[in-house]
Amino acid sequence: MTQASAPGKLILFGEHAVVYGRPAIAIPLPSLRATAEVSALPNSNRNGIRIHAPDLDSEFWLDEVGRKDPLALAVHSTIETLQVTYPPNLQISIRSDLPMAAGLGSGAAVTVAIIRSLCRHFQRKLRDEKISDLAYQVERIHHGTPSGVDNTVITYEKPVYFIQGEPPSIFRIKNRFNLVLAHSGETTPTSEVVLAVRNRWEKSKQTYNRVFDSISRIVDLAHRALQHGDLSLIGPLMDQNHNQLKSLGVSCRSLDKLVETAKAAGATGAKLSGAGRGGFMISLVDPGTADLVVSALTDAGAQFVFKTEIA
Ligand code: PMV
Repeated sequence: MTQASAPGKLILFGEHAVVYGRPAIAIPLPSLRATAEVSALPNSNRNGIRIHAPDLDSEFWLDEVGRKDPLALAVHSTIETLQVTYPPNLQISIRSDLPMAAGLGSGAAVTVAIIRSLCRHFQRKLRDEKISDLAYQVERIHHGTPSGVDNTVITYEKPVYFIQGEPPSIFRIKNRFNLVLAHSGETTPTSEVVLAVRNRWEKSKQTYNRVFDSISRIVDLAHRALQHGDLSLIGPLMDQNHNQLKSLGVSCRSLDKLVETAKAAGATGAKLSGAGRGGFMISLVDPGTADLVVSALTDAGAQFVFKTEIA
């Protein structure tokens, strides 16, 4: 039996603008993971590869589904890349701590866990760049035209300053900080929100490009602040980024309410994270106020409220 796992992720700054060539900053969430385990087929009178993913409500034989299924594509493309020449008989069991379609990278984490577990099983190594590339192809099923930030940060499992089409720039966060995360309870598929922004951009490119440029400046300031440990700058930059995301039309009342609640309870900055129109809000907190912010968000009806230390 071989096993591998991959973390969830958070986009700290720059979502949406990153689809238009601007930078984004994403970090891994090592405490929430997807795990894939490759083992012999349990007493089966059938040959092939069985996928067993109860957390994702998915259970099937690989040869029974097409390549449009993300789990199936992850397995097919890894086996092809590894040039496995005999048809293997295997079970791949997948577990995930990550809520699905919530902006924490559950899809990419599952894909990277599958790729790494198959590499271990066949005792083969693939470079991170190749793993990220394979995961990107799978992300396209989920998102249509993903920027590639999710598969990159999840593969490298390090903070990343990411520009589409460029090699990822891994960097070190100088001083630890604490975030409180809360889910609004609603979700909208990423592809839908990305398309809505695309339609608006097509109609008023100048206006939207200006917003993307402002976000780009926020990302660059945040990148410098994180590297130098200037945490007092991060909260205000999160607030500014949230306002720009509002002007792109990707926030919603419930996310705005969570941002306001976190700030009123003492968070020094807050913003939506990921595609928006539901999903997660992230807020920067001092260790002393984290519990107050958690309680306030819980009282406000948020789901999956938790604090996490980013190092
Ligand atoms: O909701 P998520 O975590 O899949 O993030 C989407 C981020 C976008 O910038 C909106 C899209 C992308 O492909 O980068």
